[in-house]
Amino acid sequence: MSKEKALAHYTDKKKGKKLNCAQAVIAAFKDKFPLDDNSVALFASLGSGRAPEGVCGAFYAAKFILGPDGREGIEKCGDIFLSKAGSIKCREIRQAKKLSCTGCVETASEFLEGVERDSGRAKAMKHAFNIKQFIAGSCYSYMLSSDGEALILDPHISLKEEYASYLSKSRLQLKYIVDTHTHADHFSLSAVLKKELLATVIMHEKAVSEVAEVRVKDNDELGLGSVKIKFIYTPGHTDDAVSLYAEGRLFTGDVLLIGSVGRTDFQNGSPESMFDTLQRIKTLPAETVIFPAHDYHENKSSILAKEKETNPFLKEPDKSVFVTNMRSKVIPKPFNIDNIVRVNRKGLAVSLEMVSAKAAHESIAKDTSVKLLDVRSAMEYNEVHIKDSINIPIDMLGGKISELVQSGNTYIVLCRTGNRSPMAADMLVQSGLPSVKVMNGGITGWQKEKLPVEKGQGGISLERQVRIIAGSLVLSGILLSIFVNPWFLAISIFVASGLIFAGVTDNCMMGLLLMKLPYNKKLYKVKSGGGTCAMG
Ligand SMILES: [Fe+2]
Repeated sequence: MSKEKALAHYTDKKKGKKLNCAQAVIAAFKDKFPLDDNSVALFASLGSGRAPEGVCGAFYAAKFILGPDGREGIEKCGDIFLSKAGSIKCREIRQAKKLSCTGCVETASEFLEGVERDSGRAKAMKHAFNIKQFIAGSCYSYMLSSDGEALILDPHISLKEEYASYLSKSRLQLKYIVDTHTHADHFSLSAVLKKELLATVIMHEKAVSEVAEVRVKDNDELGLGSVKIKFIYTPGHTDDAVSLYAEGRLFTGDVLLIGSVGRTDFQNGSPESMFDTLQRIKTLPAETVIFPAHDYHENKSSILAKEKETNPFLKEPDKSVFVTNMRSKVIPKPFNIDNIVRVNRKGLAVSLEMVSAKAAHESIAKDTSVKLLDVRSAMEYNEVHIKDSINIPIDMLGGKISELVQSGNTYIVLCRTGNRSPMAADMLVQSGLPSVKVMNGGITGWQKEKLPVEKGQGGISLERQVRIIAGSLVLSGILLSIFVNPWFLAISIFVASGLIFAGVTDNCMMGLLLMKLPYNKKLYKVKSGGGTCAMG
């Protein structure tokens, strides 16, 4: 039955939702084996030979399902692939032409149909363990639960209602709250949840916090329902950072990110410690699913084996090169960092009222004293904004507070996706503004609801300007070298080298020069709201 499901997933073109070979197997077996809701999405980039070590995606999906304790089964499955397809590697299978991709999906599925539920990964995950990922802009937080007990990891100030509704919908009792480290780029909801839901706040023993009641150290364990959660001390991004390991999943906070790592230049961060931490994480089982606390490219989770192959920070074997590389980058600090750290340490962040884009739209139409306050940069605002919204970039808000307080208006704060707006709103509330709300999802959410926007003369983004100019120069160099003088090829070589340099070092000289043009100067004179917790 599951085999038919997998084949249908792989070949069904009617719904226009064809899954890759790995996803087809995962989707077909996610009911039989305990897999996370996001597992199908997790395998989106692992089909067609892109699984770790170039193995067949369908085989890799079976391997993932069997998990670290299913070595025997994995070998058996590998043997079947060897006899039927001649290899477990996608490229070799294709070259041997003994088995088609559909045949691979069928083979992996047939094998999994014969595996008992209580073997392999199923055995390793015999305890009920659910993971719910919550997203607030680029910040991820998680609700882990087992047998009716829940733990919220890295609670975000804007997600109170989402947590409450999930707890009640899933009939869970919130027992623990964990901050993986003292956050410097957003407010934690820990203090609010602790007060309102009487849950215990846990942090590492080095965390300077007036909120945490229980302190953990390396290898401490915590029981949640029927699962054991292990705390792994993972310094690097900060010196108070822990990662949580349970049932084949690793929650890495801001230490290991997808394709990146956390920055190490504040809060007692250390590139040396980060390198050591990464070496330790690398020793975990290859199929460990990585859940970070941030992602700036909308990736939700990853697999350790994939990160080991593709994440440049995990791939670097030389500690001194790693350290030099980390120290060479100059990244702006997160907006208002000192205040955010102070508020998080003392647990002073207030609970914010969130409104949907639709509700915000209705409010401004009904009541003229309700204003939309857009805290994105002037350039972002110029590109697209909501009619009659007020633009005060977040790093200029401090100077405008008294004006806003005196206006007597209600302000609904928005940014691009909902990352900056809670920080801006918190600042306004704490400065005495009586009525402040935050718009969920920012202008991105507003546009998703197909609500009206005004597109302005935002100009062309720097990245696009670089692409246009570099492309034009390369093309001109080639054409001139053909029709005028071969030496003109030097222009193309020079520009291409510059682009490679920019890609490797993340320092784009052309971008820096373009920023100095009067037109760009005007657009970029306001910073976009500070840096992030990631290296890139
Ligand atoms: Fe952080």
